[in-house]
Amino acid sequence: MANTNLANAKSAKNDEFYTQYPDIQKEINAYLDYDANVFRGKTILLPCDDPEWSNFTKFFAQNFELLGLKRLISTSYAPESKKYKMPYQPTLFETSQPYFDNDKSKTHGKIFVLDRDTTGDNRINIDDLQWQYLEGDGDFRSKEIRQLRDEADIIVTNPPFSLFREFVAWLMEAEKQFIIIGNMNAVTYKEVFPLIKNNKIWLGVNDVRWFYFADANGELYEAAHSRWFTNVDHGRRHQPLKLMTMAENFKHSKHKEIRGKKDYIHYDNCDAIEVPYTDAIPSDYNEVMGVPISFLDKYCPEQFEIVGITKTWNNFAKKIYPEQIQISKNGKTSKVSKLNDGATIKLIDIPEDETYYIVNEELFIQVYARILIRKKQ
Ligand SMILES: C[S@@+](CC[C@H](N)C(=O)[O-])C[C@H]1O[C@@H](n2cnc3c(N)ncnc32)[C@H](O)[C@@H]1O
Repeated sequence: MANTNLANAKSAKNDEFYTQYPDIQKEINAYLDYDANVFRGKTILLPCDDPEWSNFTKFFAQNFELLGLKRLISTSYAPESKKYKMPYQPTLFETSQPYFDNDKSKTHGKIFVLDRDTTGDNRINIDDLQWQYLEGDGDFRSKEIRQLRDEADIIVTNPPFSLFREFVAWLMEAEKQFIIIGNMNAVTYKEVFPLIKNNKIWLGVNDVRWFYFADANGELYEAAHSRWFTNVDHGRRHQPLKLMTMAENFKHSKHKEIRGKKDYIHYDNCDAIEVPYTDAIPSDYNEVMGVPISFLDKYCPEQFEIVGITKTWNNFAKKIYPEQIQISKNGKTSKVSKLNDGATIKLIDIPEDETYYIVNEELFIQVYARILIRKKQ
């Protein structure tokens, strides 16, 4: 029970990571490099934001004219609706307004809009942001925010971690363009992977370093392995990977699993070879290959097609083993009743830090989840 509470608290806290300005700037610049007019005349919606201190709102408001935006809308989620409660204090920005409402401040979301010069300096910038309370709490699933979504052209945000699947479905149902942040593992979700496979969603250009505002004890949190997920085109995804042939890999690969070998290992339960590193993909192999998930950072749809993922929800494991014994790093054995997610490949050497299995007196090793790809014919 205590553990569940702790896990819940951690997952709620994960929903509150904040994005750094340079991360947003670098990524948006990559889309501009590819198409300088990508945001021109567009209405941008930033949902799941905290406009008073969000770098998303700051970036798009500061660059409103440069990007040629038509309208910027940013919405926040009511403090009392948030799963992870921080000590709440309305900002001076809010309390200094004549329409400040102490109760609404806690239970309502806010909407910030930028579309014209209100200060009379003939420029549209962050000083021209106008705000008011939303009717509801700003939940992206509410009718009110759904309506804003439908009116927007491009949606940009770092949505709550725990609702990532729902958020993606919410975007897809409206068929909008988007640039959002998610955990790299999300590519393996059964709701997300098919979209990646069909080139409806792809990874952005840069890594994301997350930043969490200090908590009550002044502690800072950072979540690793975050990526931009988008359906806005960029140049990186059209650059094919430079690769060696299979023969060149056996001769020159820097990886001990490949150099000096005569074959790539073939999976036991799927017709594909195991390629443990993206830079070890043989350029002249025409059949299916299992590659690490990080391949998606380099994926160029003109070069490769994605045919699957080694997850049981994707019908990956074709063999059903009646009995499987797992042997942990320290030699402890335990029975596993059903086949673990991920590929099992026949064991060649037993690496010390790997989990392996005995199935019907044969030894197998489990590898991480792999993306199954094939050279574009
Ligand atoms: C990961 S934070 C990102 C904040 C901001 N976009 C940024 O990157 O700086 C996610 C935000 O979504 C809010 N949130 C959580 N659940 C939500 C929901 N159902 N609807 C809208 N926002 C939500 C959280 O309270 C938090 O403010």
